[in-house]
Amino acid sequence: MKKKLLSALLSVALAATLLVGCGNGNNTEQTDAPAADDTQTEAPADDGGSASGGGELIGVSMPTKDLQRWNQDGENMKAQLEAAGYEVDLQFASNDIPTQVSQIENMISGGCKLLVIASIEGDSLGTVLQQAKENNIPVIAYDRLIMNTDAVTYYATFDNYLVGQKQGEFIVEQLDLENAEGPFNLEIVTGDPGDNNVNFFYGGAMDVLKPYIDSGKLVVKSGQIEKADVATANWATDAAQSRFEAIISSYYSDGTNLDVVLASNDSTALGVVNALEANYTGEWPLVTGQDCDVANVKNIIAGKQSMSIFKDTRDLASKVVEMVDAIMKGEEIAGLDTETYDNGTGVIPSYLCEPVFADVNNYKEILIDSGYYSESDLQ
Ligand code: BGC
Repeated sequence: MKKKLLSALLSVALAATLLVGCGNGNNTEQTDAPAADDTQTEAPADDGGSASGGGELIGVSMPTKDLQRWNQDGENMKAQLEAAGYEVDLQFASNDIPTQVSQIENMISGGCKLLVIASIEGDSLGTVLQQAKENNIPVIAYDRLIMNTDAVTYYATFDNYLVGQKQGEFIVEQLDLENAEGPFNLEIVTGDPGDNNVNFFYGGAMDVLKPYIDSGKLVVKSGQIEKADVATANWATDAAQSRFEAIISSYYSDGTNLDVVLASNDSTALGVVNALEANYTGEWPLVTGQDCDVANVKNIIAGKQSMSIFKDTRDLASKVVEMVDAIMKGEEIAGLDTETYDNGTGVIPSYLCEPVFADVNNYKEILIDSGYYSESDLQ
């Protein structure tokens, strides 16, 4: 009975989340989301004894409101935790590490019983999380692993290696690299070097593509192949765009075709497409992405981006709420990955949600039919 009531509450919260978090693709206009330095201290939900949380305060620290996905993640987490009977202190750190550190310090001194953190930079939270540990406050690393601290209890993310692998395999299939003679011109862009996920996105894709680069079937004219050379600070669209403008003018302005761009995510893919639109006159290349942000799905529909990876943040949030509940009740969580994600102090037991391939042929089914977006969001 309790379970039924809880799942009914979660459905209501999920519906609210869809209306609020997923109904508006442009994060900067998302008026329902709290301001970057907002502290949510609403009264605990009156669960009538049905929800599992006992009104305890949970701190949720998100990296930024600048990218669409973190707004959705934050709103999903807040709605689902509240539906489960917790109070939520949700903060966004404007991609500024000292801001994130001080927001977490405030969560600790403000009485949070557990922290859910999507870090800006994986290596920068050791000192503040030591304080959490001393205060017996468990930490769940959300989406991005927090490195070199033993204060992290669990990690919940998507299968990040699989994300990169799917992007690489898409390129192999589309260019028919097994059979076609080539060579094809490839350029690469990945994300912030301080985000541990980049190792998996870049690594998963390069494990698929590197043999073709080595054999000369894929040619990277800029010579920028190593992770450090293709990184994008803060995953910023502007930074990816200026790097690509320089690449296009140096290597692809004389009629040479760029055949494919491996872009690790949508914010960087957007920068690539902006640069191509401004400066490139050859045949339009394949462009990969990740997140299914609204602007990128529009580009997929318009033929400017070839694919994206859909990461249903509603699933990640509900998994994290399960983890919170288990920790609060002192229960073990079964079925976690205990091999893949070592944060430098040992392997952190991880839950890996499944990333889903999205392109112009299936976006309606996976994004609209699932209620993630409405048709009008994508017009
Ligand atoms: C996330 C991606 C996202 C990127 C930029 C990564 O850690 O896993 O989904 O595109 O950060 O925000």
